[in-house]
Amino acid sequence: MLLERFLANRADRTLQAYTADIADFARFLQQAPDAAVARFLSGGPDLGHHTVLAYAVGLRQQGRARATINRRLATLRALMRTAQDLHLMEWSLDMPSEDQISAAVEERSTSESVHYLLPRHPDEIDRLDIQHYALRETLGANYLAPVDLPTTVLDVGCGTGQWGFEVSVKFPNALVIGLDLMAGKPDRPPRYRWVKGNLLEGLPFARDRIDFVHQRLLITGVPLAFWPAVVAELVRVTRPGGWVELVEPPGWIDQQGPATERLLGLTAEFSTSLGLDTTGVVFESLDGYLQEAGLARVVRRQISVPIGRWGGQVGSLMVTDLRAGFTRVCEVLKARSLLSAEEGRDLIRLAQEEWEHGRMSWTFGIAFGQKP
Ligand SMILES: C[S@@+](CC[C@H](N)C(=O)[O-])C[C@H]1O[C@@H](n2cnc3c(N)ncnc32)[C@H](O)[C@@H]1O
Repeated sequence: MLLERFLANRADRTLQAYTADIADFARFLQQAPDAAVARFLSGGPDLGHHTVLAYAVGLRQQGRARATINRRLATLRALMRTAQDLHLMEWSLDMPSEDQISAAVEERSTSESVHYLLPRHPDEIDRLDIQHYALRETLGANYLAPVDLPTTVLDVGCGTGQWGFEVSVKFPNALVIGLDLMAGKPDRPPRYRWVKGNLLEGLPFARDRIDFVHQRLLITGVPLAFWPAVVAELVRVTRPGGWVELVEPPGWIDQQGPATERLLGLTAEFSTSLGLDTTGVVFESLDGYLQEAGLARVVRRQISVPIGRWGGQVGSLMVTDLRAGFTRVCEVLKARSLLSAEEGRDLIRLAQEEWEHGRMSWTFGIAFGQKP
């Protein structure tokens, strides 16, 4: 109804421009225009501001002209005015200024990405290592691609660096590079190098350089719209004959109980506002992305990681991982007034009971392919 009213009686050119602008914003939120606008209105001032900021930063990253970005934001502003006139919105949108957008773009390139769901926290180091051990134990290996004595390995979004440290020990003569927005653990093997970089701005390496490119768990940092370009970038730096491997989970847990479902739902709500995938598209598309980027011999596998003591050591590691992960998500939601501290604590307590008494598990998709 709001969109209908907003677009009614517009001159042809205005109608076309408004329709295109709203469709673009809806694509960013991964929904049909009506649903995207309804969701945006129900979010409130903090989430609204953050969403528009993430959207504007994304437009700048895609190289859109300033005039286009300003027009898209002006359309949103006009739409919000109509929503207020119709009493469909009881809050007002604090539109990010040009300076705020520039600051967010700058901050993203120097420290962290505005799109990243869980900016690193001191505890995050432990959580990521725990998750690494659980995945390695389940897989029985650090990767699946048939890599043979590489001389250069690149781990994109390397986190603590633990994956790369282990690969460095396995191939002591190889140069192993971990790239991330933030530094990982300090005690690095001798042939391991950490490089600061923002994947969304391209990789700081020449083409055809790397024997093995690995990227795991970037679903919380790479917006859905960027995935094809990001995978093409991984392939660009891979040398002919080299391999690329991707590892990502979907946005749900198998056999999830109600508290777990609610926590994932809250996470998804916020992730969507950052343009991140919450519907399993990336998980489903891993092999497709590699094929589209020109790789051959593409293989896809799935592993299922148990959550709860019933799943032995790995299951217990995953409980620690998820408890810490959801605690961080609840802090982020609380800081944006989307959840109270008490509600967050209750949900995590209930979810832990579910993990002990249910038989939940988390599926991960793994796909690898070779550059011809
Ligand atoms: C969930 S962690 C996964 C870490 C590691 N790959 C692993 O599997 O243990 C995601 C990592 O990606 C990094 N990251 C997020 N967005 C990024 C970006 N745009 N460029 C580079 N790194 C990014 C974060 O700083 C974080 O260390």
